[in-house]
Amino acid sequence: MATNSRQRTGLIIVIAAIAATGGLLFGFDTGVISGAKQFFRELWDLTDKQVEWITTAGLFGAIAGAASSGRITDLIGRRLVILGSAVIFGVGAVWTGAAGSPTSLFIGRLFLGIAIGISSYTVPLYIAELSPSKHRGALVSAFQLLITIGILVSYLSDKGFVVEDEKVGAMSQLLINMNFDIHFLNCWRPMFYIGVIPALILFTGMFFLPETPRFLISQGREDKGRAILQRIEEPELVEPMIKKMKADLEVSRKNNISAVRDLLKPWMRNALIIGIGIMFVQQFVGINTVIYYSPEIFEKAGFLSVDSQLSATVIVGLVNVFFTIVSMFIIDKVGRRKLYFFGLTGITISLIALSLGFAFMDTLGESMKILTVIFILVYILFFAISLGPLGWLIISEVYPLHLRGTGSSIGALSNWTFNAIVTFTFLSLLRILGPSGAFAFYAAIGILGLIWGTRFIPETKGVSLEAIEDHWRAGNKPNELKV
Ligand code: BGC
Repeated sequence: MATNSRQRTGLIIVIAAIAATGGLLFGFDTGVISGAKQFFRELWDLTDKQVEWITTAGLFGAIAGAASSGRITDLIGRRLVILGSAVIFGVGAVWTGAAGSPTSLFIGRLFLGIAIGISSYTVPLYIAELSPSKHRGALVSAFQLLITIGILVSYLSDKGFVVEDEKVGAMSQLLINMNFDIHFLNCWRPMFYIGVIPALILFTGMFFLPETPRFLISQGREDKGRAILQRIEEPELVEPMIKKMKADLEVSRKNNISAVRDLLKPWMRNALIIGIGIMFVQQFVGINTVIYYSPEIFEKAGFLSVDSQLSATVIVGLVNVFFTIVSMFIIDKVGRRKLYFFGLTGITISLIALSLGFAFMDTLGESMKILTVIFILVYILFFAISLGPLGWLIISEVYPLHLRGTGSSIGALSNWTFNAIVTFTFLSLLRILGPSGAFAFYAAIGILGLIWGTRFIPETKGVSLEAIEDHWRAGNKPNELKV
């Protein structure tokens, strides 16, 4: 049954909002550990190494989740895989909240990480395959928006639970007022348990949402796929799209293209390079050194109390959310390429400014504090309008239908692997090069990313997923793509 434009828009907004809850879990679960660690460290009297193992378990889990699930997404569908990840999120939240030993907490975090890795690409892919081409950028970016909200919530909970000399965070204060001894209560448990709520929303919502029309058609379930397409796409586009998908699938079948090794075929190579490359740039400009280590960076710039470092960090989280919203409004108008170059130029300039600031710290004195905050906020602003949403959006767009799950899982796997490398090396980089050298290194990657992007970032704005696939099949270059 055909629907009118408002009904279609309403439906797809509901779909994107529910599925994007996966982003909330991504952001919250990666961020929450930094605030929780002070409490379980104290409870079990852990060494630095043990705390490091528990805090990084999520990253390892995410790598494992992304590495193991791509093909499954192409075989059993996007929806079932997201439902599965929601179950893991829920069980992981209860497990980590109830963990009775450091080993159990480590395993629980590993388990949660698997769900983060799986949902990090299945959710954007699911939204992309259900979105009309002209709004796809904004709708998929809802995922990034919820990542940033998840990160902000985790910062706020860190600040809420802080206990430092005379300074006690609002949440901890509330618990003290209720006569709880917060050190015995282990405030980290509720921080983890709370993750059950978005997991339940994701599970219940996805239970009622449809599979994507593209996946259904790839499985020969054309009628069902058509019925869903009619509810989300402009009526005149439905039949040509189905025809196109069937023709593409037929070509793949004839050439016996189905296995992962086909991703290496010459016509697929560009899509593969784009997915890995954009995630390399997104991670190696050092975003998570700011996201995970903001308090430490602010401490180096002269903010001495934990509370002032956390306040500055909350502002970072707010700017991240706000400019992701700005990006959602412009991404389908300005387009991916312009946003990439504009954003990455801003990121690189702020990294250079940070590097210079730290180099001349002694001369700058007190003003260094305020300058660091400004440079970091400008850096986050440019990241939030560009590389943040673009990374996850582009890996959901560039792969052909029959390998879309596998292809985008490789993009996600790259993201988590690069994330782990940057996070693990940051503290050593700080020791060896100092903050100035470390930020100069990330700025150099930004410059490389600008050069790489001129050749490889495709303009997918308004282009249907089928037309993107055709573009590769015809042997065209990434920078030649347009509507
Ligand atoms: C990145 C994360 C990062 C977040 C910050 C995401 O797109 O993949 O690594 O922490 O953005 O907002």
